[in-house]
Amino acid sequence: MSRYRLSLVDGKYCLRDSFSSQKPLSLSFSSPRFLRRVKAASKNSELLAKAVGSRKGLKVVDCTAGLGREGFLLAYLGCEVTLIERSKVIYFLLLDALNSARFDPDLKEAVGRISLYRSDAEEFLSQYRSWDVVYIDPMFPEKKKTSLPKGDMQYLQRFLSKEKNDGSLLKMAFRCQFRRLVVKRPLKTVFNEIKNPDSFVQNDKIRYDIYSGI
Ligand SMILES: C[S@@+](CC[C@H](N)C(=O)[O-])C[C@H]1O[C@@H](n2cnc3c(N)ncnc32)[C@H](O)[C@@H]1O
Repeated sequence: MSRYRLSLVDGKYCLRDSFSSQKPLSLSFSSPRFLRRVKAASKNSELLAKAVGSRKGLKVVDCTAGLGREGFLLAYLGCEVTLIERSKVIYFLLLDALNSARFDPDLKEAVGRISLYRSDAEEFLSQYRSWDVVYIDPMFPEKKKTSLPKGDMQYLQRFLSKEKNDGSLLKMAFRCQFRRLVVKRPLKTVFNEIKNPDSFVQNDKIRYDIYSGI
């Protein structure tokens, strides 16, 4: 039997890890915690919104959708967000969460500003090159046990631990036409990419590097 299994529980899809006692991974944008966060969100309270320069109608491609939270937050703030996810399973969980959010009066407008695609973002960007903002949040390198990411993100990291992350997506992103390219990085990342960022915003955990385009 394979380690991971996608199953339907009470009408909701979830991913089970038979090697872990952690509760199965399912995605929802309607949890009270996430709702509080998006309702309070602004450029001042959310670092990502500041990094992206969020505003109504801004066309953002989130190349690494993952749990969809950051992309959703930007859509809630009025951005037109294209979410790209490479993993078939994570794409499916995201689709399920977005379909449920369509019926939530607090969230349906934001869902209407989101398009979700299952694709490798490198391939997607090679076809669709012109954006206001290109956003990349790659999986961070695995950490020591004491500083593992928490909850759902920990699940995601375990599930996707064998996926490649070799910087080629960033190289492709630089070939696009954008006003801003924003890359999320661990705070202490030593810089060794093609180009130094033009600016950054950070808190005590993470940093968003900002590259200016046209
Ligand atoms: C760290 S998670 C992103 C978390 C996300 N920002 C959020 O708010 O939940 C990275 C996600 O990007 C996806 N990913 C990584 N490289 C990708 C690529 N080249 N194309 C599409 N998806 C990719 C992974 O499958 C994973 O789900």
